[in-house]
Amino acid sequence: MDMDLDRQVPVLDWTGHLAERTAGMKSSAIRELLKLTSQPDIISFAGGLPAPDFFPLREVEEACRYVIQTEGKNALQYSPTEGYRPLREFLANSMHKYGVPAVPENVLLTNGSQQALDLIGKVLISEGDYIITGRPTYLGAIQAWNAYGARYHTVNLDDDGMIVDEIEHAYEKVLADSGKPPKFVYVLPNFHNPAGTTLTLERRERLAELATKLDLPVVEDDPYGQLRYEGQDLPPICTFIPERTIYLGTFSKTLTPGLRLGWVVCPEVLMQWFIKAKQGADLHTGTFAQYVANDICQRGFLKVHVQRLRGVYKERRDTMLDALAEFWPESCSWTYPQGGLFLWARVPESIDTSDFFAQALQEKVAYVPGINFFPNRDGGFNAMRLNFSYSGPELIVEGIRRLGMALKRELEG
Ligand SMILES: Cc1ncc(COP(=O)(O)O)c(C=O)c1O
Repeated sequence: MDMDLDRQVPVLDWTGHLAERTAGMKSSAIRELLKLTSQPDIISFAGGLPAPDFFPLREVEEACRYVIQTEGKNALQYSPTEGYRPLREFLANSMHKYGVPAVPENVLLTNGSQQALDLIGKVLISEGDYIITGRPTYLGAIQAWNAYGARYHTVNLDDDGMIVDEIEHAYEKVLADSGKPPKFVYVLPNFHNPAGTTLTLERRERLAELATKLDLPVVEDDPYGQLRYEGQDLPPICTFIPERTIYLGTFSKTLTPGLRLGWVVCPEVLMQWFIKAKQGADLHTGTFAQYVANDICQRGFLKVHVQRLRGVYKERRDTMLDALAEFWPESCSWTYPQGGLFLWARVPESIDTSDFFAQALQEKVAYVPGINFFPNRDGGFNAMRLNFSYSGPELIVEGIRRLGMALKRELEG
């Protein structure tokens, strides 16, 4: 047996003891990268972090105190797997403005929407199943589903989001290759992470039509829908096909990610499976966090706070767009997000953004190289995701200026 010489303790080689499924478990490239970029002098456009200066500390503190004083004994106790009923009711009602007839029985509180993605894997994905998703797509979903042996057939995105007309071909290809239909379509309709794009109303309707025709479930992941800086809110896909949509929401980007509170809205028949899966994982989502979030929602504070965040993030988005136009070479392009936290930038094909990352770090600026968002690692070589919510306007200008200089040097050299 080996010894850890620093700590003078024996170390067992666990390799032979691990489950086969661990072969599919990869550490998130972004989490690894965030470790690298968390030094204080780095201007980071890499993470998806909300602006910490705008966390509603006072309101959360007041809600905590109120909950302890009025409901302390319940709020600190075990609670039902489904979640705290008044909060489920509030979330069900919040879907009514879109015409989704949700009731509390359709709502499950989860430990962030990341847990919802994992529960979807646990309940729906068997080894070798295909999922249809966009290219690029949210890396955290891929990480969750890889552990269940998922495979991916990707469809392209343009400035209007996922090109949903490609879904039918993708369906046929998966059926031909694997003998089974794909398990579901994974779609990020609003202010896509990482692409920054929004699915148009026509495409939402078309997606609903296609999903019905092909008998395909839809996983609609919507962490950013509330953070719209211009234009009209669009109905979620579950408005058109509630019976076949699993809708995911979260408090992470509107209230705070540290509470770890997300939710699923889905048909009741599916809910019982998610509840069973969640019981095995963690019994229930933290009771106290749910009471606190419920208090903040019921008082109407969340609405006011989101309004304020929209102002802050809109200014940061505009600052980044202006800085890109001023400092980046003309041969680069980027998406124009109507909301959310990210934009997707493309540089000339001669630059591989994974290689260029080292130069960016020398300039003390970080981003996420595009390839990380392609589940089959077959694209995004000359693209990057840029986050505009975390850094303040001055740092955004400086970071984009430094990246622009480094890009020009690379292109000239
Ligand atoms: C598209 C998407 N889905 C899910 C999540 C997970 O969010 P959380 O678990 O904090 O609710 C994120 C976080 O960035 C995301 O961007």
